[in-house]
Amino acid sequence: MIADKKKPGKKARKATAPIRVGLLGLGVVGGGTWKVLRNNAAEIARRAGRSIEIRAVAVRDIEKARKLLGDEKVKVTTDGMEIARDPKIDVVVELIGGETAAREWVMEAIHQGKHVVTANKALLALHGNEIFDAADENNVMVAFEAAVAGGIPIIKAMREGLSANRIDWIAGIINGTTNFILSEMQSRGEPFNTVLAEAQRLGYAEADPTFDIEGVDAAHKLTLLASMAFGIPVQFDKACIEGISKLEAEDIQHAARLGYRIKLLGIARRRDDGIELRVHPTLIRMSSPLASVDGAMNAVLVHGDIVGPTLYYGQGAGEMPTASAVVADLVDVARLESADPEHRVPYLAFQPDAVEDIPILAAEDIESAYYLRLRVADRPGVLADISRILAEAGISIGSMIQEPYQADEATIIFLLHRAREGSVMQAIENIQKLPFVRSEVTRLRVEEQI
Ligand code: NAP
Ligand code: HSE
Repeated sequence: MIADKKKPGKKARKATAPIRVGLLGLGVVGGGTWKVLRNNAAEIARRAGRSIEIRAVAVRDIEKARKLLGDEKVKVTTDGMEIARDPKIDVVVELIGGETAAREWVMEAIHQGKHVVTANKALLALHGNEIFDAADENNVMVAFEAAVAGGIPIIKAMREGLSANRIDWIAGIINGTTNFILSEMQSRGEPFNTVLAEAQRLGYAEADPTFDIEGVDAAHKLTLLASMAFGIPVQFDKACIEGISKLEAEDIQHAARLGYRIKLLGIARRRDDGIELRVHPTLIRMSSPLASVDGAMNAVLVHGDIVGPTLYYGQGAGEMPTASAVVADLVDVARLESADPEHRVPYLAFQPDAVEDIPILAAEDIESAYYLRLRVADRPGVLADISRILAEAGISIGSMIQEPYQADEATIIFLLHRAREGSVMQAIENIQKLPFVRSEVTRLRVEEQI
C-alpha cells in the first residue's frame, strides 16, 4: 500500500493490481527490459503506483529464453499471437522488430483492447497511421519512447514539454551505429567494416545493418519526430534519404581541415511552402553542439518559436538505454491506464482531428549549402568554366581551395552558399561534362546554422 504522507487527513491509496505485461522478443532490448524490471522493481513500483510484471514472453528460441528467465514463472511461447489474445495480459511490449509478425501482433493486441509499447521505429514509420487510428478507436495507448534516440526522452519532450511552441526545425544525430562508425573512422582511422562489426557486437545495429548505414533507420525516426513537431501524418515514403556508405575518408579529412565535422543528420524543417524531411551526411561547424557528439551517443536539437533551441543528448542505442525508455513507457501506461482516453496525451502530440496534410518537399526543392570536391586538369580556364556554370545556375561560391593532386592535376573544393538542390544537381551534371574534369564530383550538404 502506498500511503500519502503529505496530508495526514487524506486516506491512504488502495493497493492496485499489478499491470501484466506480455513481452514480444527477448533479445538486446527485450532482455534489457526484463533485467530492468527485475532489478529496479521496487523503485519502478513506487513511481508507477503498482508493480509491473512480465507474465509471458514470445521468442523464436525457447531454450535460449529460458536461460535468461531462470526460475521465474513466465509463460514462453513462439507464437506472439497467443500473447496478443491472452485475456490475462494488459500491455503488449513489442521488441521483435520488423514489420510482418510485429504488425500482426500489435494490431491484434490493439483490437483486443491492450495497450502497446514498442521500440520499433520501422513499424511506426511505415504503418503508424493505421496503428494509431486503430488505437484511437479501441481507446488504448501506443507508447514508443524507445523508438527514437534510445534512452533520450525525446518523445516526451516533443509530445509534452514543447507544447507551447510552433516547431521551426529539428536536427539530430539519431542513429547510434553510424555515429559510432563515423567517430571511430575519424578519431582512430578504423576501417568501415571493422567498426560496423563492433557496433553489431555491442547490439547497436539493426537486424539488417543496411538500415543503419543507408540512413533508413534515421529516416524512420525522423519521420516520427516530424509528425510530432508539425502535426502531420507519418510519411516515411516522402523522406529524402542518403546514408554513409559512399562517404569517403578523404572528405572527412578535408572537412576537418575546413573546420567542419561530418555527421549523419536527420533534418526536418518547416518552410512557407512545405516541410523538408531529409537524412544525409552533413558538414557542420566544429562549434555546433552536435559536432562533439561521438560514439553511439545521439543528440537532437529542436528549435521552437517560443523556447528557441533546445538540446537533448544521451545514449542512442544498446541494451540498457533502450530498456530505460521502454520501462518509462510502461510506467506511463501503468499510471494512465484508468484515465479517460480523451485526457491522454495524443499519440503524435497533436489531436488526431487537428493533423494537417502539409506537403513534404521533393529532394530537388531542398535548400542547403553545399561542399563539392572534384579533380581537374591543372590548366588555365578551369576555374573560370566551373564558376561560370555555377553562376548561370544562380549559385554563389562561398569559398574555394585548390591543392595539387599529381603533376598535372589538382583537387578543388568549393563551399557553396545556400541553394536549391535541383539547381546544384543540374550544375554538377554540367560540370561533370567539362573535358578537364577527371573525377566524379562529390557533393555533400553543409548546414551552417545547426
Ligand atoms: P534482437 O536482439 O534481434 O531481438 C529480437 C528478439 O525478438 C529476439 O528475442 C528474437 O527471438 C525475437 N523474435 C524475432 N522475430 C520473432 C518472431 N517472428 N517470433 C518470435 N520471436 C521473435 O533485436 P533488438 O536489438 O532487441 O531490437 C528489437 C527492436 O528494438 C527492433 O525494432 C529495433 O529496431 C528496436 N530498437 C533496438 C535498439 C538497439 O539498440 N538494439 C534500440 C532502439 C530500438 P530469438 O532470440 O529467439 O531469435
Ligand atoms: N540501430 C539503431 C541505432 C538502434 O544504431 O541507432 C537504436 O535505434
